Amino acid sequence: MIVTDQRPTPRQYIALCRRSGLHRPTDEARIARMIAEANLVRTVWNGDTLVALLRAWTDWVYVCYLADIMVAAEYQRSGIGRLLVADLRARLGDRVQLVAVAAPTASGFYESIGFEKSDRTYILRRKQ
Ligand SMILES: CC(C)(COP(=O)(O)OP(=O)(O)OC[C@H]1O[C@@H](n2cnc3c(N)ncnc32)[C@H](O)[C@@H]1OP(=O)(O)O)[C@@H](O)C(=O)NCCC(=O)NCCS
Repeated sequence: MIVTDQRPTPRQYIALCRRSGLHRPTDEARIARMIAEANLVRTVWNGDTLVALLRAWTDWVYVCYLADIMVAAEYQRSGIGRLLVADLRARLGDRVQLVAVAAPTASGFYESIGFEKSDRTYILRRKQ
């Protein structure tokens, strides 16, 4: 599998949310901004079909906030999530700390790939 810089269309992003089980907005204008404003988007494709995506913000020298990682259900548990994070790590280097807010069902994934659980993360939740 090759990880690319190709950004998906909002419809491709929404289709992957459905296929992976990740809950995200379905308003195309909002999704378009979510994709356009992220400064790091990495994707895996099978032909024209989006198979996996990672979306993040980073300053490239200190911290990176992981906003989404998702893999289509039929490709899950085959190493693509690990590959996306390894690719990210390689691009960011050792000075950059990765921060992720895990969906309840994804905690095991983060722990398996080396993230440590923190009790010092605070969230001011969005209202819509
Ligand atoms: C979470 C997700 C991105 C993981 O991607 P993946 O390609 O299936 O993960 P990998 O195959 O690379 O797995 C890497 C390791 O994590 C483990 N793992 C993966 N998903 C897991 C899960 N849901 N629970 C527990 N462990 C999990 C794998 O067993 C593997 O461990 P191992 O190397 O010790 O055998 C993917 O399952 C997904 O898209 N889930 C739905 C969307 C989601 O919840 N995203 C996270 C939002 S915070």
